[in-house]
Amino acid sequence: MMIEFENVSFRYDPKTDYVLNDITFKINKAEFVAIVGKNGAGKTTLIKHFNGLLKPNEGIVRIDSLDITKEPISKMASIIGYSFQNPNHQLFAQNVKKELEFGPNNLKVEESTRDTTIQNLVDTFQINHLLERSPFELSGGERRLVSIASVLTMNQQVLVLDEPTYGQDYRQKKRLGSFLNKLTDEGITVVVVSHDMDFILDFIPRTIVLSGGKIVADGETSKVLSDQTLLQDADLISPLLLDLCKSLQQIDDSFTISINEQEVYENILALISKDRKISR
Ligand SMILES: Nc1ncnc2c1ncn2[C@@H]1O[C@H](COP(=O)(O)OP(=O)(O)OP(=O)(O)O)[C@@H](O)[C@H]1O
Ligand SMILES: [Mg+2]
Repeated sequence: MMIEFENVSFRYDPKTDYVLNDITFKINKAEFVAIVGKNGAGKTTLIKHFNGLLKPNEGIVRIDSLDITKEPISKMASIIGYSFQNPNHQLFAQNVKKELEFGPNNLKVEESTRDTTIQNLVDTFQINHLLERSPFELSGGERRLVSIASVLTMNQQVLVLDEPTYGQDYRQKKRLGSFLNKLTDEGITVVVVSHDMDFILDFIPRTIVLSGGKIVADGETSKVLSDQTLLQDADLISPLLLDLCKSLQQIDDSFTISINEQEVYENILALISKDRKISR
């Protein structure tokens, strides 16, 4: 489904400043989009407008042709999966298995479909050993993973995830990135808020930068995240891989900038061996 913000402004209190200022953008069906910005930039506030958790003071938010302010939250919940920045706001069941079953049961999904979806998620994220455990006895990383998986059980058309890689180890991040990528191939629209520039560069083709409640950039991730002036103005840092490439290009201007780890690794090896040949 398509998401559209048209001149959206929002403040928590009429006595305070706007947290979102005249936001306009469009995300097409099956797009994979990252939203970045420093602490307090307004990212969480923005994505809470996707499913009507917050309603704009001015402007319109549409999901396809639906005006979200006019739809009941329960209807939006069946269309949009939302994973909270703090997993504790989301988990409550007695054990992980029940936690994963809660969403599909609520949406009255048929049991066999529910179980197949859950099994697929359990296999993908390798959390079989956690099923009988209480969500509140899990480690921070495990808890976040379960909270994300519990959203993915509902097969909604739009997914909005707030900081999904926070506290995740390298392999879990890769699994999550590939899984979300695959979902977009199947037509699901995925929006991720993240401070993890390396994850974004690796998996998410489009990035929107928020600063002071305004959109200051929106475009191809590799271009947005290599724009030093823009990043500095928004108080952000570029991904390590791009930094490294840029430094190496200053040493040898034939060095090609790439966003693929393996390619960068090979380019570095080529650079070293070229250097050795010259110095011999
Ligand atoms: N419930 C609330 N009531 C009043 N002000 C709020 C509320 N939630 C957030 N704010 C304020 O709105 C601004 C934007 O907050 P928001 O949570 O959207 O930022 P964020 O970009 O998600 O930051 P972070 O990276 O720290 O998660 C901040 O100044 C924050 O203090
Ligand atoms: Mg936030």
